[in-house]
Amino acid sequence: MVSAQEISQAGQIRDARMRVAVIGCGYVGLVTGVCLAEVGHEVHLVDLDKKKIEMLNSGKAPIYELGLDLLLQSNKPSLHFYSDITEAIQDRDIEVIFIAVGTPSDKEGHADLTALFRAARSLIGLINEKTVVVVKSTVPVGTCDNVAEMLDTQRVISNPEFLKEGTAVKDCLEPDRVVIGHHFDCNDAVDIMIHLYYPIVRGDYDKIVLMDRRSSEMTKYAANVMLAARLSMMNELAVLCEKYDADIEQVRLGIGKDERIGPHFLKAGPGYGGSCFPKDVSALLCMAEKVKVEPIMLSAIKDRNDNQRYHAACKILDYFRWSLQDKRIVVWGLAFKAGTDDARESPALEIIRTLVEKDAMVVAHDPKATETFQEAFGDHDNLSYNGQYGALFGADALVLLTDWDEYKKPNWELIGRSMYKKTIFDFRNIWDREHLERDGFYYESIGRAPSATFFV
Ligand code: UDX
Repeated sequence: MVSAQEISQAGQIRDARMRVAVIGCGYVGLVTGVCLAEVGHEVHLVDLDKKKIEMLNSGKAPIYELGLDLLLQSNKPSLHFYSDITEAIQDRDIEVIFIAVGTPSDKEGHADLTALFRAARSLIGLINEKTVVVVKSTVPVGTCDNVAEMLDTQRVISNPEFLKEGTAVKDCLEPDRVVIGHHFDCNDAVDIMIHLYYPIVRGDYDKIVLMDRRSSEMTKYAANVMLAARLSMMNELAVLCEKYDADIEQVRLGIGKDERIGPHFLKAGPGYGGSCFPKDVSALLCMAEKVKVEPIMLSAIKDRNDNQRYHAACKILDYFRWSLQDKRIVVWGLAFKAGTDDARESPALEIIRTLVEKDAMVVAHDPKATETFQEAFGDHDNLSYNGQYGALFGADALVLLTDWDEYKKPNWELIGRSMYKKTIFDFRNIWDREHLERDGFYYESIGRAPSATFFV
């Protein structure tokens, strides 16, 4: 495989400003488009959702993502939004078209490619022999080959996205690596991709990893399941720590210093969520089953994660001896992680569902994700929403599910005065147990034995 530098040097010097289209204005498409504009490209973004396009045209991002609103404003002249693909592409001499539509799980856990193939099909007749079509959506291995066949061109590139919600803009502008999967005899398409990314990698060709399309598609799944595996392992170790009176936080520091393991992505909690890990583990599981490979590891990663949510809910149920009638339980944190308004596959969905179904009165708060959570959860008589401190009046327990900065150093004096019972379930291990116990709180976390005193 030739390197990015070799290909780029062989290619002619190009105009630095390129014309790009992005289909899909979700977290990936919108952030990619805005960041490409930020580094100097002209970007035409399309989404079928007219409301989204209206918002974007008025200068507002339809999602919460740090720095996104600012970049939308400052790059207004380079950004154009449409709800019609033809209008976005025809007669605009677009060089690169990104497909960044959702590939959610279907009922069986396969990646649902309906939107992706719809987007690809809509390009028939709109592209010319030079256009490069880039699949950014996470897709099963072989999908880019299908897109290439559909469009009758090998200038289809697999370019998976590794950005994280909450730090998406930074991740996109300062990536660890840019994976470009291409057909073996399409070096000029690769050259175009390298020029497109040149201002993002700032000339550091080592960040560009070239490979074949199928390996690139697999790389995206491999990265996500590897990270999910770390979390499931840590969560299982946390359960063992609870039983053997060890402390998962100390274990985390101990193993994180091993250079081979490293300190990142080792925090035990209520289980991973979000739009990627659960969906991608399931999709790879389905891909394994399709080719009759027993997905031993993948099944274990998924099972531990499903179990971890239940394990967290059971801690609350056990404490109240499985009787939650008339208990007022406050939940802080509905987003699947801090820094995002996204509640997809959030542990809060299952944990709150378990509590309300056991007749608890749940009062929830989140700095950004209340609306998306409400949409995903639906209404329930036993669930209401309130301000961070207002929710606590007369509460029997406070449960922390998302480690937002707002929650890290709360006013414990006010909390203690407001609550009926000073009972804390810290499922992100962010609070100081000794300090809380000294102030008369019952404290329970993940991966550490609970306080000795019960109030029930
Ligand atoms: C993930 C991948 O990190 C990213 O590369 C990919 O492009 C999309 O999927 P994202 O879902 O935005 O990104 O969030 P991430 O920060 O990776 O967290 C995923 C889940 O793991 C969250 O539920 C988070 O709370 C959990 N997590 C993360 C932990 O429980 N412990 C940790 O140490 C890290």
